[in-house]
Amino acid sequence: MTDHYAVIGNPISHSKSPNIHKAFGLQTHQDISYEAKLAPLDGFATLVHALVKQGYLGANVTVPFKLEAYQLCDTLTERARSAGAVNTLTFAENKIKGDNTDGAGLVNDIEQNLHMRFVNKHVLLLGAGGAAQGVLLPILSAQPASLTIANRTIEKAHFMVQSVAATHAVCNINVTTFEHLFSPILKQPFDIVINATSAGLTASHLPISDQVFAQHTLAYDMMYGRETPFMVQARAAGAQVADGLGMLVEQAAEAFYVWRGIRPETATVISHLRKPSN
Ligand code: ATR
Repeated sequence: MTDHYAVIGNPISHSKSPNIHKAFGLQTHQDISYEAKLAPLDGFATLVHALVKQGYLGANVTVPFKLEAYQLCDTLTERARSAGAVNTLTFAENKIKGDNTDGAGLVNDIEQNLHMRFVNKHVLLLGAGGAAQGVLLPILSAQPASLTIANRTIEKAHFMVQSVAATHAVCNINVTTFEHLFSPILKQPFDIVINATSAGLTASHLPISDQVFAQHTLAYDMMYGRETPFMVQARAAGAQVADGLGMLVEQAAEAFYVWRGIRPETATVISHLRKPSN
């Protein structure tokens, strides 16, 4: 019997998730279906309850419903609680369980696909919105030597750090604005720089110094599908550059693991998606 899953968003027709999960299902011999579902902006909860009724076993949640999904769940994992958002729903015994696999997807892409371990590294996270909040706990759990968070609105960065500092202040955490990154915090370039701002959506340039980058630096933009000004700057400054396509596939792999208990192979799926026709 086929087990049914879906991804819910608005818009949703562009989503790569159905193809990714179908590839995972084929590869692992799991009999699953996975469809994209468009929810009206005021109809997310209704659609989720309809899927539960129809016997679906779970769903991914994307823009703009991750916060609403968080509110809707009966139970939450620690990483969902820390993210304040849910991207993976599991339906069992008439209950909705919420998880967030975005941060694990980022860390797995950087560590396993890009071969850069977080342990003992100096990490710079740009942004303090929902995307940054979603990856904060998994980054700290990967035990960097230090984490510096830079945001245009510094109060938001302080607020975000407060949410994890009490329980997960395992490393030195700094908070700053883009302009103040250079001094006094920056005594040397960072090992990993992650852009979790949405500035790339409007092709906006972030006012960060070239000196945050060195040749060994991995400059990672969580966006994919276009070369952002952040990526252009990092490349020109000599850093290694990656976009967020690997994170997309890895967060899907983590959701697949949550649902099916099997970890799919991701490298071939990522390279397939990188082909121009996809
Ligand atoms: P998301 O869910 O994509 O994180 P968000 O919660 O609205 O969206 O957060 C957007 C993030 O990108 C914030 O860190 C925002 O900075 P502010 O907190 O100062 O608003 C950042 N951002 C968006 N556009 C930006 C720009 N042009 N320059 C600098 N930062 C920008």
